[in-house]
Amino acid sequence: MKMLRHLALLLSLCTGLAVAQQEPARPFVDAARGPTPITESTKPPVLGNAVNDDVRRTRNYAMQPPTIPHRVDGYQIDKNFNKCLDCHARAKTEMTQAVPVSVTHYMDRSGRTLAQVSTRRYFCMQCHVPQDGVRPIVQNNFQDVDTVIQRAMQAQKANEKSSKK
Ligand code: HEC
Ligand code: HEC
Repeated sequence: MKMLRHLALLLSLCTGLAVAQQEPARPFVDAARGPTPITESTKPPVLGNAVNDDVRRTRNYAMQPPTIPHRVDGYQIDKNFNKCLDCHARAKTEMTQAVPVSVTHYMDRSGRTLAQVSTRRYFCMQCHVPQDGVRPIVQNNFQDVDTVIQRAMQAQKANEKSSKK
């Protein structure tokens, strides 16, 4: 019985392979890298002029890392110095008026709060990014939770009205 099952599995694998081989390779196109094959490097686009309006933006959901509303080019972040923390560290914010990093930035992976920013949060631009005024390269129809709730409530009201008639 077991042997039979193995045989069936092998057979289905073989036919799968055969089908895969027959199909002509479709050219791979990725909106971000264009038609450049995955094995080759793309020519990086010219750097734009990062938005520098100092206006804190709405977050789309509670745990979204806020985007950076100021320029960051040339800021040093390495083992010797972290330019971001030069303004955003708790102790520096009175002088800089920057938003202090939140308590999650002091937590290690076991949830213990440390005295200094955790190494997991040291490289700020892993999560926080400056913005450029460019046309989006992929479509996005994300709606935040407030919009979703509002729509659901409107739909419910409309439903109740029509059932009363
Ligand atoms: C010279 C001081 C200074 C430095 C250096 C600096 N920031 Fe800021 N940052 C600010 C100030 C002040 C604000 C408040 C908005 C504004 O004025 O731009 C801010 C706002 C932000 C915000 C928005 C916070 C929110 O709640 O919307 C993020 C994210 C941020 N900075 C990240 C960074 C990162 C990452 C770096 C390093 C690459 C950095 N900042 C370096 C001063 C600084
Ligand atoms: C692993 C991802 C990650 C890294 C790395 C990281 N952050 Fe954040 N940051 C977040 C998230 C998520 C939030 C929003 C939720 C929260 O406060 O934890 C946030 C919030 C913030 C805020 C807003 C705080 C508030 O109370 O509104 C500031 C300012 C900030 N980060 C700055 C920094 C700076 C400066 C660094 C580098 C020293 C950094 N972050 C590194 C993910 C990250």
